[in-house]
Amino acid sequence: METITLNNGVTLPALGLGVYQSAPEETADAVATALELGYRHVDTAAAYFNEKEVGDGLRRAGLPRDEVFIETKVFPSDYGFDETLHAFEKSTRKLGVDQLDLFILHQPRPGLFDRTLAAYRALEKLLADGSVRAIGVSNFKPSHLKRLLAEVDVVPAVNQIELHPYFQQPDVQSADAELGILTQAWSPIGGITFYPGPWREDRMNVMRDPTIAAIAETHAKSPAQVMLRWGIQHGRSVIPKSTNPGRIAQNLDVFDFALDDEEMTRIDALDTGKRAGVDPDEPRGDFYDRPIPEA
Ligand code: A2P
Repeated sequence: METITLNNGVTLPALGLGVYQSAPEETADAVATALELGYRHVDTAAAYFNEKEVGDGLRRAGLPRDEVFIETKVFPSDYGFDETLHAFEKSTRKLGVDQLDLFILHQPRPGLFDRTLAAYRALEKLLADGSVRAIGVSNFKPSHLKRLLAEVDVVPAVNQIELHPYFQQPDVQSADAELGILTQAWSPIGGITFYPGPWREDRMNVMRDPTIAAIAETHAKSPAQVMLRWGIQHGRSVIPKSTNPGRIAQNLDVFDFALDDEEMTRIDALDTGKRAGVDPDEPRGDFYDRPIPEA
């Protein structure tokens, strides 16, 4: 498995298992299966409401703790300094671990930026005392990064954003690169372009894209594998979600082929500039106030 080195020297596998939208009752099996197949990175979030099941899967796989990179996210309802320290306790208890490899803010709250900053300062404290090995953010636009960096000491190691061939966010990627922040792709195979849910009605399903299908055929790989390979070759961290054992295995099988420059460029050219998920600047009523249960 290829690894990526973060700006503080910590390394993580280039590909990990995502569990957004993994039903709790399927999550432990998915995590245990992935770890048995060779995955060594799992990305979850307090607000996915499946951290306990991720922990069950980890224990079932029985690997030494330091062989698995565990990432989770604080939800905005837990932003604030003390609240975020407590969110760390909730997440680690649910996961059944003492230390997190990566702990990130789930979302900027542009209208409540003081609380966002206080939450980040709690991440800095957790980093300083060794409770977490790296800290970061998610869904931050360049404007949010700028506001954050004007006030804090530690440059985030990671910015996890919606990133698949139809929505590539070149402005965020450039800002991340300039600042030494790793861009981590959520929905790297475009699940957000076809999940049922309250998303944009004009979404196009990237899994059915003809350019990607043609490239996949050339390599005798699937469209999902081509999209993952494209992300990894661009130096990004990718965290495809699947609860299906065959697809979990398929998504890991992307290290025995390479896309050439022309294929990479053809996929780069598919960017529509239209996000399928929610704009981080959009106020969402009380969505971000949803409480995260105690462990
Ligand atoms: P499933 O869990 O049934 O496999 P993303 O991580 O980009 O959001 O994509 C996740 C979505 O893509 C889920 O709906 C998942 O369903 C599906 N998926 C995961 N791996 C593959 C694959 N290799 N081929 C097709 N669909 C996949």
